[in-house]
Amino acid sequence: MPKLIIDNIELEVPEGTNVLEAARSVGIVIPHFCWHPALGKAGACRVCAVKLLEGPVKGLQMSCMLPVQDGMVVSTTDEEALAMRRAVIEWLMINHPHDCPVCDEGGECQLQDYTIAGGHGIRRYDGKKRTHFNQQLGPYIEHEMNRCIQCYRCARFYQEYAGGTDFGVMGRAGTIYFGRQQDGTLESPFSGNLVDICPTGVFTDKTARFRARYWDYDMAPSVCPHCSLGCNTVPMARYRELLKTTARRNDAVNGWFLCDRGRFSNSAVNAPDRPRRALVDSQPVSVAAALDAISLRLNGFLALHGSGALAIVGSPRMSLEGNLLAARLRDLLGAGALCYFSDVLHAERAVEAVSLLNFENSASQEDVRQSDLVAVMECDLLDQAPMMALAVRQAWRNGARVYIVGSECPIDVAQQELFESESAISLSDVPLASAKRPVIICGTRHKGLLQIRTAAASGARLAFILDGPNAFGCALLSNQQGAISFSEALVEGKIKGVIALEADLPSDLPLGIRVLAAADWLPTPLLERAEIVLPVTSWVEMDGTYVNNEGRAQRFKQVMQPGLPIKGLTPELHPPRVHRHDAPAGEALPSWRMLSELLERLGDERFEEPLSGRWEVLSGLQAEGGGELLTRVK
Ligand code: FES
Repeated sequence: MPKLIIDNIELEVPEGTNVLEAARSVGIVIPHFCWHPALGKAGACRVCAVKLLEGPVKGLQMSCMLPVQDGMVVSTTDEEALAMRRAVIEWLMINHPHDCPVCDEGGECQLQDYTIAGGHGIRRYDGKKRTHFNQQLGPYIEHEMNRCIQCYRCARFYQEYAGGTDFGVMGRAGTIYFGRQQDGTLESPFSGNLVDICPTGVFTDKTARFRARYWDYDMAPSVCPHCSLGCNTVPMARYRELLKTTARRNDAVNGWFLCDRGRFSNSAVNAPDRPRRALVDSQPVSVAAALDAISLRLNGFLALHGSGALAIVGSPRMSLEGNLLAARLRDLLGAGALCYFSDVLHAERAVEAVSLLNFENSASQEDVRQSDLVAVMECDLLDQAPMMALAVRQAWRNGARVYIVGSECPIDVAQQELFESESAISLSDVPLASAKRPVIICGTRHKGLLQIRTAAASGARLAFILDGPNAFGCALLSNQQGAISFSEALVEGKIKGVIALEADLPSDLPLGIRVLAAADWLPTPLLERAEIVLPVTSWVEMDGTYVNNEGRAQRFKQVMQPGLPIKGLTPELHPPRVHRHDAPAGEALPSWRMLSELLERLGDERFEEPLSGRWEVLSGLQAEGGGELLTRVK
């Protein structure tokens, strides 16, 4: 490993590391626009200049383009390097609008940061600025080409990293243009990453445009709830409205990126028809009164039908904490059934897949990216786990062979743009033995247990695609708690009443079954059947834990307070006529806390920390720590 000195710090870095990365490894930040950890170097912006004082290379050099060599002595603060960087910023600002105070990228713009840091404040160029027309790129991305500094990050991400073909670079020299051949919605399911990756404001999130400044947002590290992969995010909210979601780096999971579903599915959190009030027999009451009513009715129900007639139903979209306390409620009441999955096939497959995963064979998204052979079976990746399709593309770009096994995986145009694949009738037709790092990605929706067992018996690493952000956690709990699926509980014919917690139960629930209570933040049809409705918080309004498809427990933090967003409040509710500390319709509690309060009313202890006993290992989990693999401890 070569040794070098950067700003008087001696260090040793792996062969192939460039000077910019080497400096980052010891906390020295060299300005950069075109270099990106996931995209590598382009040498386009020339702002990463450093001075090589001694060693095999001397003089002013671009640090992102220069592989480290033994004996290099680098200065990032040499006056010549600083002057070069100042000059580059001044050149870039010749055509860039001088409008930081009103620009909607202000506060999250790398060019703004480096311009201020470098001290460029006076414009010496008095000619005309080059200007461009912008394009309509669809409902999600706003285009503002005049802010472009030609770093090529957008085209490199869109075309090379994500395989998109409808966007790229056109023109030449001073007229270079990044866009589509003509106006139109960006077709890539990963187009939203242009917003994160652009170092200035050429691409911004149209759905949040002019709604807040960067420093106005409430934000916290979180986890995407829209499939089972558990990609890391930073949701951003203001005045109790979830305005936008950005990707958060996790090298083992999503890397630096996020799919468009994860990024732009924010509206359900803000929806006016979200359950916000507790209801007893359709009458609004306080949450405390609703919990009192549940406790009273439960006593009556149990006296009439016996505890065996009650089903407690959790869900793969509820946090681990909520599902744990659902089991506690079952234990306390001696309920006849504890369910985490609504249908038996879903439950069987998730439980089987999870029981076959262990620390050695479970594959992360990074394992897929590093694989040299990927077999995809039984799933529509772009529909069920889009970021896994992006991971397969990275493996394919690095030379991996990709096999689509069986007939359950659609090979549509969108997928063909991501990677080339070969078809195989069955897994036995895939040359797994010839690969060093083979991974099988297997869905759990179609042919049942046989494919799951066949995949597990192959000796390759496994990535099962489950349904729901916490399906892995529910499958683990099903085994530990002896849960059955809701459809099985119904077949037994004993169930006469249900307490449902963020559960998607069938809309044709038999009329003889009472929905004693339903807690949810989504307006599901089940709430219309519920005698008592409890409003609970969505994932951005609470701290909690999801376990992703790989068995990685990840903590998400509260981003905003629950309650009606100020935007859209009725004149009766806003502005408040009486001083109040709480937010209008802000009574929602996390499901686990709602359960804790109910347990206390029913004579159990009050839980302040649901992750106890064998789950205590997760109680100190940090949202920014990368997660804890339960396959290591299960
Ligand atoms: Fe080195 Fe752009 S970051 S040239």
